[in-house]
Amino acid sequence: MNKLDAELSLGLLQEEGYKTVDTVEGADVILINTCSVRQHAEDKVYSHLGALKALKKKHPEVIVGVLGCMAQKDGESIFKRMPHVDLVCGTRMFSRLPELLLNIKNHGSHVLAIDEDHIVNVKRAVTYRPNFYQAFVTVIRGCDNFCSYCIVPYVRGREISRTIPDITQEVQALVSGGCKEITLLGQNINTYGKGLSGDITLGDLLSALNDLDGLERIRFVTSHPADMSRDLIRTMSRLEKVCKHLHMPAQSGSDRILSSMKRGYTAGYYRDLIAYARELMPHMSVASDFIVGFPGETDEDFRETVQLMEDIRFQNCFIFKYSPRTGTKAAELEDDVADEVKRARNMRLLELQKGISLEENRKMIGRMVEVLAEGTSKSDSNKLTGRTRQNHIVVFNGSRELVGKLVNVLIYEATDLTLHGTLA
Ligand code: 5AD
Ligand code: SF4
Repeated sequence: MNKLDAELSLGLLQEEGYKTVDTVEGADVILINTCSVRQHAEDKVYSHLGALKALKKKHPEVIVGVLGCMAQKDGESIFKRMPHVDLVCGTRMFSRLPELLLNIKNHGSHVLAIDEDHIVNVKRAVTYRPNFYQAFVTVIRGCDNFCSYCIVPYVRGREISRTIPDITQEVQALVSGGCKEITLLGQNINTYGKGLSGDITLGDLLSALNDLDGLERIRFVTSHPADMSRDLIRTMSRLEKVCKHLHMPAQSGSDRILSSMKRGYTAGYYRDLIAYARELMPHMSVASDFIVGFPGETDEDFRETVQLMEDIRFQNCFIFKYSPRTGTKAAELEDDVADEVKRARNMRLLELQKGISLEENRKMIGRMVEVLAEGTSKSDSNKLTGRTRQNHIVVFNGSRELVGKLVNVLIYEATDLTLHGTLA
C-alpha cells in the first residue's frame, strides 16, 4: 500500500510538472513516505530526516516532507523533533500534495495535514506506473480489526471500500495501457464491500474483474484468516484469472497468543481453512507473517508456531520480532520476552522456512510454468526474471522484448528463493 501511495503521489506531482531526480542533492522537494508498523521503520525515517538537516541549512528553499503512517501518528511532534521538516502529510491527505506544496512555497513552512475525515480519492495517472504490465490497485483502505499489537487501524483509520464500477474503470484503463497483472490491495482485503450498498463481497469484485478482456492475472493481499470465507475460497478456485496464491498471515501457532493478539481464530481454524483451500486448489501456495516474542510468549507457545510452520509448509514467510506500539492494547502488556530470545526465535523460524522453501521449490524441477516476464535478472543481466501464478520467482534465458509477456518456462534448478528455467 505504501509503495502504491508513493507511486500515486508521484503521479499527482508529475501531472503538475514536477520531475524525479536521481540524487537528494538535486531535489527541490524531498518527500519520505513512512511506515510505523514497527519501531525500526520509524527509527530509519528519523535517521534519514536527521541526515537532511545540513542540506536544508545550506538550501532553506528545499521542501522536506514526511508522508504516510508515521506522519499520521506523530503529527505536530515531528516539527518539534525535526524543525527543518516543512510538511507532515498523513495517510488520507496525499491526494492534496500539489496544493500543500504550493502552500509552503507561498506561505512558509510547517504545514500539517492529518485530517482523519478526508477520504482518499486519487485520479490515477496510469502513465506513471513503474511497470506497464503490472499494477497495484487499492480496493479497501483502513482496518477495523484492531489486532492488539497493530498500529494500522489508528493510522489508516476505518475501512472504506471503493465501488466495483470505480475499481473496474481503473483496471480497464490500466489494461488498455498494457497491464496484464493486477494486485488488489487492502490491509484487510477479505472485508471488501462492507459499507457499500448491496451485499458486495470480494468474490463479486474478483468475478467482475475476471471478465475483463486483456487482463491475465489477478492477485489480492492481505487476507485475514478470521475474515476469509469458504465462499471466497470457492470463488477463487473457480475464476481462472485469479492466481492460486494466498498471503494469509497466521502470526502465531499458539491459541493462547492468538487470543491475546485478538486475532479471532485458532491455529486449528487456520489449518482447516488451508486444508479446504488446498482441497479445491491442490497447487495453491500460501505465504504468512509471524510475530515472535509477543508478550507472554513461552517456549511452548513458540513450539506451537514451529509446529504450524512445519505442518502448513508455507511458500515463504515474513517473520518479525514483536515491537510495542504506543496506543495499542498490547502496549499495555509487559514486553517481557528478552530481545535475545526474540532474535533466537526469529532465526529459528527463518531457518525452518528456508529449508521448507527449498524442498518445495525443488518439487518444481521438471515442471513447465507460466511466467510473466518482469525484466532483467539482478544477478545475471543476460537473463530475465518473472513470477509464476503461484508467486515463485523464476530466472530464465530470454531477450528484453519478452518483458511484459507471458511465457512458458521449464524449471531445471531451484534454490529456496528462486527457480531457474529455460524458455520453452
Ligand atoms: N510488532 C511486530 N510486527 C508487527 N506486525 C504488525 N504489527 C507489529 C508489531 N507491533 C507485523 C504483522 C503484520 C505485518 C505487516 O507486520 O506480522 O502481518
Ligand atoms: Fe493490523 Fe492486519 Fe490486524 Fe488490521 S488485520 S489490525 S492491519 S494486523
